[in-house]
Amino acid sequence: MGLKIQEKRVVRATEEFVRNYFESESSGHDWWHIYRVRNLALKIAKREGGDLFLIEMAALLHDLDDWKLNEGSEESKIKKWLTSIGFSEEKTTEIIHIVGQVSFKGAGVETRATSIEAQIVQDADRLDAIGAIGIARTFAYGGNRGRLIHHPDSKPEMHSSFEEYKKTTAPTINHFYEKLLLLKNRMNTETAKKMAEKRHRFMEVFLKQFFEEWESKI
Ligand code: NI
Repeated sequence: MGLKIQEKRVVRATEEFVRNYFESESSGHDWWHIYRVRNLALKIAKREGGDLFLIEMAALLHDLDDWKLNEGSEESKIKKWLTSIGFSEEKTTEIIHIVGQVSFKGAGVETRATSIEAQIVQDADRLDAIGAIGIARTFAYGGNRGRLIHHPDSKPEMHSSFEEYKKTTAPTINHFYEKLLLLKNRMNTETAKKMAEKRHRFMEVFLKQFFEEWESKI
């Protein structure tokens, strides 16, 4: 089971486009995030199934229209790209639909991925948001947005609407409680659930030591 030659060409061209697009991104959503999400998604798909071409394309394109990176922009860059390489409207809509289900929108906001393809890309994106890589990306994002590392008086909030979640300017440590530590239990596939465990434990160890150091206990 592999991709057809035509599909391989499309994947390669898309990879090239996305790599250039995210080349100098400095909020943890750079090309190497996309690269890892694609590889994680394909690894999960080997066990869980799904259309490999759609999964790889959706993984490569998943951050192109993300709200965090597109303030004020209404136009779909995914649509523009896929149209430019001759994708049918039907296939374009299918990929946009998958990508649209991937993003996290707040602790109390349900974001359920329905197709197996969307479930897998969402799991892959969430795996890259936790563990050692997740910690590194979270502080990169906080720095990029001018946030404090931690403030003892600022308590985490469980956002119940996407609007509230979007507005937060809280210190980066809060993000672990508002999102990252919740992701382990929100994985869709069994494969991702297993992979999330070690990454989750690593964040717990990190946080424990962070607060011990903060209070000069060690
Ligand atoms: Ni992403």
